[in-house]
Parts: sequence; structure tokens; C-alpha cells
Amino acid sequence: MQIGVLTGGGDCAGLNAAIRAVVRMAGHELDRSVVGYRRGWNGVLDGDSITLDSEAMRGTLPRGGTMLGTSRSSRRLESEGTAPLIAQLERDGVEALVTIGGDGTLITAGRLSEAGFPVVAVPKTIDNDVFGTDICIGFDTALGVATEAVDRLHTTAESHNRIMVLEVMGRETGHIAAGAGIAGGAAAVLVPEAPFNIDEIAERLVARHHRDRNASIVVVAEGAIADGSVEIPDTGADEWGNRVLDGMGQFVGELLAERTGFDTRTTVLGYIQRGGPPSPADRLLGSRLGARAVEVLMEGQSGAMVGVHSVGIALQPLAEVAGRTRYLSQDQLEMLDLISTAPVLTRHSKSRRWF
Ligand code: F6P
Repeated sequence: MQIGVLTGGGDCAGLNAAIRAVVRMAGHELDRSVVGYRRGWNGVLDGDSITLDSEAMRGTLPRGGTMLGTSRSSRRLESEGTAPLIAQLERDGVEALVTIGGDGTLITAGRLSEAGFPVVAVPKTIDNDVFGTDICIGFDTALGVATEAVDRLHTTAESHNRIMVLEVMGRETGHIAAGAGIAGGAAAVLVPEAPFNIDEIAERLVARHHRDRNASIVVVAEGAIADGSVEIPDTGADEWGNRVLDGMGQFVGELLAERTGFDTRTTVLGYIQRGGPPSPADRLLGSRLGARAVEVLMEGQSGAMVGVHSVGIALQPLAEVAGRTRYLSQDQLEMLDLISTAPVLTRHSKSRRWF
């Protein structure tokens, strides 16, 4: 079986780890190199691919972005459907595809699968809003950047007795805003899931400063929406009909300055959240999901996304935890075996053999 891989949608940190894991797993399991398509689905449509083997992946793990390049939706894909994709994949001898992307990529992957082509999807987006997984590749890195920004804004806000508004990404959802707001100790967090009332926020900030505080951080997701307390300016729609997100942080900052009378400054974090080296957690997640996607195809399954399902906070009786140690799981040992040059597991302790 020859496997293809592509990255679609906006870039983020951790994509290269996922591509690398796909290549490693395919190399070990199938003894095959992988066909990497450049620029997402456009690369498949144009027959623009490269051969990916361990050598090609060297040095990519700590690098942000995607070594394959990526693209957003394509008009040709919209008008011609999946037939040209399947024709090109067949020409390239690709029998199964791993797609690494967000909602747009998932929709096309779903169509390809409905047309009978084996696909397994890997979720990525800094917005962390892909349905069916608790965490997406890229989120942890973006959250780290946003939290660091909150920390930095705190010290300057305190020095000047200011309100600091931080606009973070989050088109439909507030995962980054909520995460950074909680981790960084923000006074208010505005997210698309809960329309904000600007008067109430202003009142609370005034009360807070009159009490004892000399700094307030307000984290605003770019896609935040207001209740009837204020009308959000219409910033139009792009060629696909999506709302153009432009200036929510600035807008909120101006409203708060007006209503509170406090010195207020706004920072827009923007693409800094998407770029730069992936956090260790994103490298691990990319590695786990990429490897698992190939395994799933090897098991004869497709038309699915590999996702993470973590449990919430659970209560454990002390009698069951005291004096015990949580060791690496068999899965983790097998992952180590996959990524190490020297075998970690003995033949005896392996449930599968990669060497
Ligand atoms: O990937 C999601 C996202 O980060 C959104 O939060 C943001 O609105 C969008 O990408 C911007 O992407 P681009 O300008 O690259 O199309």
C-alpha cells in the first residue's frame, strides 16, 4: 500500500511532527516512502508531490509551519468535486490518504471517503474547535504564546494602572481566549460562545480598580460577539461568505476606555500564535496522531478521524493511588520504539514489530 499525506487550511505548530510520524510509521510498517502533496488539496489537483522518507524529514520536528505547504479552499475543488483528486491519487499509485487539517480539510476528506477512497484525518487548528477531539495539533503552542502575552501585559498594566485588552485568534470558539485568560488570570474573557455585555464588563472593571486593583487584562477572541448592549461594526465577508474578523480587540478597547475612563491599550496577537517552534505537547500530539492514522489504515479502517479523548477530572480513592507509580504505557513504549534508532522494546515485550 502506498500512502499519501497532505496538510490543509491555516498552518500551525506541530504539523511537521505529524507528517514525520506518518512517514516513519509507513516506513516501518510498509517499508515504503510516502507521497507528500504540496499546498493541501491543490497539490493533489496539480499533481504536485514529493517523496517523503526519513531523510526528507530530518530536522523538521522543531520547526513550525508545514514542510509541505498548505492552502485554503479551492474553487476547482468546489466545482469539479472529488473525481480529479481520485484520478491523480490513482496516477500516483496512492491507495490511501492521511489528511492533516481543520474543518475545511475534513469536509473534503469526508467527500473523498464517501466516493470510496480510503482516508484517515488528523485534526489540527490553533482554534481547537474540530468536533470529535478534545485537542488539536497547534493549540498548545498557540495557548503558550497567548498565556505568555497575558503575563507580559500584566506587568506593564500594573506599572501604568491600565486596562490591557489582548485580542487572540478564535473565529467560532474561545478555546485560546479561555485557556490564556484562565492560565494568565485575566479579569474578563470575551468568547464567541457567550455574547458579551460591554456595560456590565465596564462596571465590573471600575469596581475592581476602585477596590484595590491597578491592572486589568481583558482577553478577547477575534470572533467574540456582543449582546444588545452594543452593535459590532460590520466588517464584511470574504469570497467564501465567511465573516471578516477585523478589529474586535480595538473595538472592545475603545468601548472600555470610554465607559471606564481608564487608560486602555490594545494588543493584537495575530499570526504570532500560529508560528514558531511547536511546544513539546504539540510535537507529541502530532507524533501520536500521525502514527495512529497510518496504523488505522493498516488495520483496514478509514473514513474516520483520529482524535484525543481525555477524561475529565476524576476522584481516585487514596487507598488505590498511594504507594503506586504510573509507568509508561505499552502504547508509549511502542511509540518510543518507532521513533528511536535503537529498538526500545525487546522482541518479547513487543505487541507489534516495527524493526
Ligand atoms: O486557523 C484558524 C485561524 O487561526 C482563525 O482563528 C483565523 O481567523 C484564521 O485562521 C486566519 O487565517 P488566514 O488569515 O490564514 O486565512
